Amino acid sequence: MRIPVVLDCDTGTDDALAILTGLACSDMEIRAITTVAGNVELKYTSVNTLNLVDHLGYDVPVAVGKSEPLIRPLHTAKEVHGENGMGDVVLPISNRAFDSESAIDVIYREAKKAEGDLHLVAVGPLTNIAHLFMTYPDVKPLIKHLTIMGGAIDGGNMTPSTEFNIHVDPEAAKLVSESGVPQTWVTLDATLSATIEDTMIDELRTIDTKKAKLAVEILDYMVTRNRRFGIEGAVMHDGLALASVAVPSLLKGDDFYLTVETKGEFTSGKTVVDVARVTGKPNNAFVTTGMDVEKFRAWMKEMIVNEA
Ligand code: RIB
Ligand code: CA
Repeated sequence: MRIPVVLDCDTGTDDALAILTGLACSDMEIRAITTVAGNVELKYTSVNTLNLVDHLGYDVPVAVGKSEPLIRPLHTAKEVHGENGMGDVVLPISNRAFDSESAIDVIYREAKKAEGDLHLVAVGPLTNIAHLFMTYPDVKPLIKHLTIMGGAIDGGNMTPSTEFNIHVDPEAAKLVSESGVPQTWVTLDATLSATIEDTMIDELRTIDTKKAKLAVEILDYMVTRNRRFGIEGAVMHDGLALASVAVPSLLKGDDFYLTVETKGEFTSGKTVVDVARVTGKPNNAFVTTGMDVEKFRAWMKEMIVNEA
């Protein structure tokens, strides 16, 4: 049986590649995709998601979520993903409507339908997930597992100690970390190794399909942009998180106590992971410490090359 999944995202370039490969994976069934403000404003993350899903030929429902973090103003990452979130990639405009229900109502609907088997994957700020738990606390036992792309045991890409998704909405992330829902945090300690390099992109250039051409276009934009920041390759933060639902062995890590700092100029949004187990607090998350990059690259290539 395919794993029932709802993906919450802030489509942006790496979210787009996660969607492209996740939809192609026969081990998962993405039953809905919900959008949140993050990389760019909600109007763009939502339209990018709908245009992408339609361009790839799927009729998966896309539902619009929250436009602002719980209490803070929105910070976007336009310098990374471009003004509209898709870099210089232009997708045909979808003529399909968004789901008539809101993101949290769709997640609640799909959780009830999946009867406790739903895997919820969040690859943007956790604003929608926090609203979901606050609005429908009875949804929690219906979520088999929550996989989050976010945070870092060590380091950060927004401040020296914070990762973007958690930095944008620390209060939401803290609430989610304390929710009691079984969860995996796919952190920068793993995702920064999840890179797609020129050699693989050049192999993909030989594939004459709509999906492969789009993947190459997005990857080329990401590689060129990253080179400006001194980073080699395209970093598949979100692709790794979603892939790990189908292939858990991609991730290395352990169960730890994790919480989120919500104070401090450089620490607000920091994921505090009790690796040394000094707090005595019970473990509440599987947190990544690494990943299998060759296995991941092979999975990504298979999802991009294979046609259903
Ligand atoms: O820090 C990386 C994360 O922030 C990814 O989800 C990327 O899409 C951005 O949202
Ligand atoms: Ca994202």
